[in-house]
Amino acid sequence: MLPVFLLQSLLLTCFFLSFAHPMEPSTSRCSNISIPYPFGIAGKSHFLSQDFQISCGSGSSISGPGSPVLSIGDSVFGILDISLLEGFVTIWASINSQQCKGNSSISLDGTVFTFSDTRNKFTALGCNVVAMLLNSSSGYSGGCASFCSTKNNIVNGSCSGVACCQAPVPKGLRKLELEFSIISNKDNSTLPCSEAFIVEQNSYLFSSTDLSNTNSMKPQYRPVVLEWSIDGGSCEEANQTTSYACRENTYCYNSSNGIGYRCNCSKGFEGNPYLQGPYGCQGNQVFYPCL
Ligand SMILES: *[C@@H]1O[C@H](CO)[C@@H](O)[C@H](O)[C@H]1NC(C)=O
Ligand SMILES: *[C@@H]1O[C@H](CO)[C@@H](O)[C@H](O)[C@H]1NC(C)=O
Ligand SMILES: *[C@@H]1O[C@H](CO)[C@@H](O)[C@H](O)[C@H]1NC(C)=O
Ligand SMILES: *[C@@H]1O[C@H](CO)[C@@H](O)[C@H](O)[C@H]1NC(C)=O
Ligand SMILES: *[C@@H]1O[C@H](CO)[C@@H](O)[C@H](O)[C@H]1NC(C)=O
Ligand SMILES: *[C@@H]1O[C@H](CO)[C@@H](O)[C@H](O)[C@H]1NC(C)=O
Ligand SMILES: *[C@@H]1O[C@H](CO)[C@@H](O)[C@H](O)[C@H]1NC(C)=O
Ligand SMILES: *[C@@H]1O[C@H](CO)[C@@H](O)[C@H](O)[C@H]1NC(C)=O
Repeated sequence: MLPVFLLQSLLLTCFFLSFAHPMEPSTSRCSNISIPYPFGIAGKSHFLSQDFQISCGSGSSISGPGSPVLSIGDSVFGILDISLLEGFVTIWASINSQQCKGNSSISLDGTVFTFSDTRNKFTALGCNVVAMLLNSSSGYSGGCASFCSTKNNIVNGSCSGVACCQAPVPKGLRKLELEFSIISNKDNSTLPCSEAFIVEQNSYLFSSTDLSNTNSMKPQYRPVVLEWSIDGGSCEEANQTTSYACRENTYCYNSSNGIGYRCNCSKGFEGNPYLQGPYGCQGNQVFYPCL
């Protein structure tokens, strides 16, 4: 006698068997992180353009030996994760600006990357201060205010306007340019220096001890999510060119960060939409007739 649950699963295989396709050859890995095309590893696998070139680190202290790193400008960042279908890359970075010390940030100008507006939070630490994000072409583009009346109303783990505040990251942000303004007419000489940074939205938990580190010279590394896209205009423009990156069984969508486009597998297909052949978008269901 077959147990009932086994019988049920046999009946199911009468119809469809779904399976997941590998999205990249097993060689496209650094440490345990997969590097799917359009990303590629220098000297090991193809990449779409220089922006997508990854190196398997040579033991940098940032992220450990052999782990992937991404170069942007003169800076090198450890990679924590690459999302192929959603167009994210999570890096380990100090995207920070200190009122008294200046910024330790980077500019993403001229790259296919922007700071993700949906996965990061702009975060400011300080007392009686407004931290405003600047957009050189159009003035202010976001920010938040933080107050501390007494030490007693500062609560660890709470970042809602007392000593710590958070605001959305504007869409398409490519660099952290800030203006801090003190908003108290009392003696401000005892206030801590303010600090603001961009961080993956679930990765920062405020602690009152961070207020005394806002003047630290040591860069604070935190997970930061970048959004990437294929540079080449809108889908309609790219579609007319030979460099169009979406392969078989895919569709194209304009990326929301204003740079270019991305590809996804059509419904019923799975794989890497930027690749042709076995690792590309393939039917993900096989029909098994009932015997
Ligand atoms: C890689 O390994 C590290 C340490 O073992 C682990 O924390 C991390 O979650 C792993 N990452 C992936 C993508 O599997
Ligand atoms: C890509 O396609 C998959 C499967 O159809 C879908 O679940 C996913 O939401 C799509 N991703 C984007 C970013 O459109
Ligand atoms: C830091 O900020 C100053 C003034 O806003 C700017 O000129 C400089 O380029 C910034 N540095 C970096 C590395 O972004
Ligand atoms: C900056 O301003 C320009 C021009 O108004 C606008 O196109 C762009 O989206 C703004 N960027 C941000 C991050 O707000
Ligand atoms: C204190 O506030 C005054 C007036 O707003 C300002 O000029 C000064 O730079 C502030 N001092 C500090 C240390 O921020
Ligand atoms: C927050 O936590 C830190 C470290 O655990 C502790 O030193 C500090 O006193 C706490 N602050 C508050 C306001 O509870
Ligand atoms: C370009 O777009 C048209 C209309 O949306 C579509 O029919 C065609 O298949 C696309 N070409 C490529 C190469 O995807
Ligand atoms: C992409 O953007 C262009 C212009 O920005 C617009 O005309 C087009 O309809 C958009 N295409 C898709 C697929 O959203």
